[in-house]
Amino acid sequence: MTRIVGAMGERLAVAVLASGRGSNLRAILDAARGDFPARVVLVVSDRDHALALQHAERAGVRAVCLDPKGFPDRAAFDAALGDLVDAAGARLVCLAGYMRLLGRAFVRRFEGRIMNIHPALLPAFPGLHAQRQALDYGVKIAGATVHFVDEGVDTGPIILQSSVPVLDDDTEEALSNRILVEEHRLYPEAIRLFALARLTIDGRRVRIARAS
Ligand code: GAR
Repeated sequence: MTRIVGAMGERLAVAVLASGRGSNLRAILDAARGDFPARVVLVVSDRDHALALQHAERAGVRAVCLDPKGFPDRAAFDAALGDLVDAAGARLVCLAGYMRLLGRAFVRRFEGRIMNIHPALLPAFPGLHAQRQALDYGVKIAGATVHFVDEGVDTGPIILQSSVPVLDDDTEEALSNRILVEEHRLYPEAIRLFALARLTIDGRRVRIARAS
């Protein structure tokens, strides 16, 4: 089945979910300050100390901490999260260092409208500590992936990827920083393509329409 995703017209409203430092959020906020077809309307974190919340506030974007401890189970947390996203009018949900798994109901509710960024060339090294996994495995090329989110862990259709070399003397930090440069470029680009309705999900493949 082929589905056209994204929406032409006014600037696309985006919600960003982030658990930590928020450098990808910052890259998105920076892009949105320029000539960009999307704007961030909401940032949600599951951790109240997340720097991401401060970045959002500084940019004048609504920042909400949703503490999982306040909910009886993941389904209740996810339902509240989904309601926040819908109430903000967001049409796209971007996971940017969001370290909680989203349940099936949330993924179905926003099907084809959730993106994630992962610091590896998927399908290699899904899950936690992708850069360390790459170093431990001994690959010579690593990278970053932006993909749509499905019900698996880092398994959804791939939108964009970019590679970086792994150097002989790399530490986890050095490799992570090299990958992060690519992440900050890729994520705004993927959002831009979605907002311009240039992405089509066709099974596992995401096709990118040429600019008209
Ligand atoms: C990024 O490297 C992102 O790719 C990774 O967490 C970091 C968040 O950094 N995400 C994952 O590993 C998800 N599996 P940031 O908070 O500075 O954007």
